[in-house]
Amino acid sequence: MKNTKLIEAKFVTSAADYRKCPPPEKPEYAFIGRSNVGKSSLINMLVGNKNLAKTSQTPGKTQLINHFEVNKKWYIVDLPGYGFAKAPKGERDKWGEMIGNYLVNRENLMCVFVLIDIRHEPQRVDLEFLDFLGEKDVPFYLIFTKADKVGSVTAEQNVESFKKTMLLSWTKVPQYFITSSERRTGREELLKAIEELNLSFTK
Ligand code: GTP
Ligand code: MG
Repeated sequence: MKNTKLIEAKFVTSAADYRKCPPPEKPEYAFIGRSNVGKSSLINMLVGNKNLAKTSQTPGKTQLINHFEVNKKWYIVDLPGYGFAKAPKGERDKWGEMIGNYLVNRENLMCVFVLIDIRHEPQRVDLEFLDFLGEKDVPFYLIFTKADKVGSVTAEQNVESFKKTMLLSWTKVPQYFITSSERRTGREELLKAIEELNLSFTK
């Protein structure tokens, strides 16, 4: 079996516009979700480097489209979060334009991982974001984060509740992962899913 533990990851660029991102010659995976949901922490956990993506207890840490190259073979992208209530409207519009354009136009984007905080009931802002991806035909998987912060019963209940809510407007629930960056839960499964998708990349 291939060893997914050996990972070499390096920072490539930060850009405010998808046209300034690296050439779309490698398969790419973007991590997105509410501010503070744990995107940057999850990226660091996946690649095994706590200092690669900048993390913070204060929401709004990641502000640009950040590219990291993994094993010289694929890109992992850290995006700024949505749904940060304190952000002024102008900021939120700017976010929508920057991220919306990136998601719709980035040609090597294999799939988007949408992160959902496992501690909460389904949140409108997450469901609306999924609707946006659906409208634009952007493929996505779900990642429930911070599983170490709840017991397994609550975790299961909240995942079920999210699935049920999604099925009110979707015909099926996408593939999903349960993760904890703190405990490195879900790492192997995620890396395996990415490796599989890498195989179907065509330039
Ligand atoms: P923005 O860039 O601001 O949108 O946030 P983000 O989604 O990148 O979140 P970030 O990774 O910066 O994490 C936010 C906070 O949650 C930090 O204090 C992390 O230490 C904490 N955190 C992230 N993932 C986990 C996890 O799996 N378990 C626990 N216990 N804490 C986590
Ligand atoms: Mg971040």
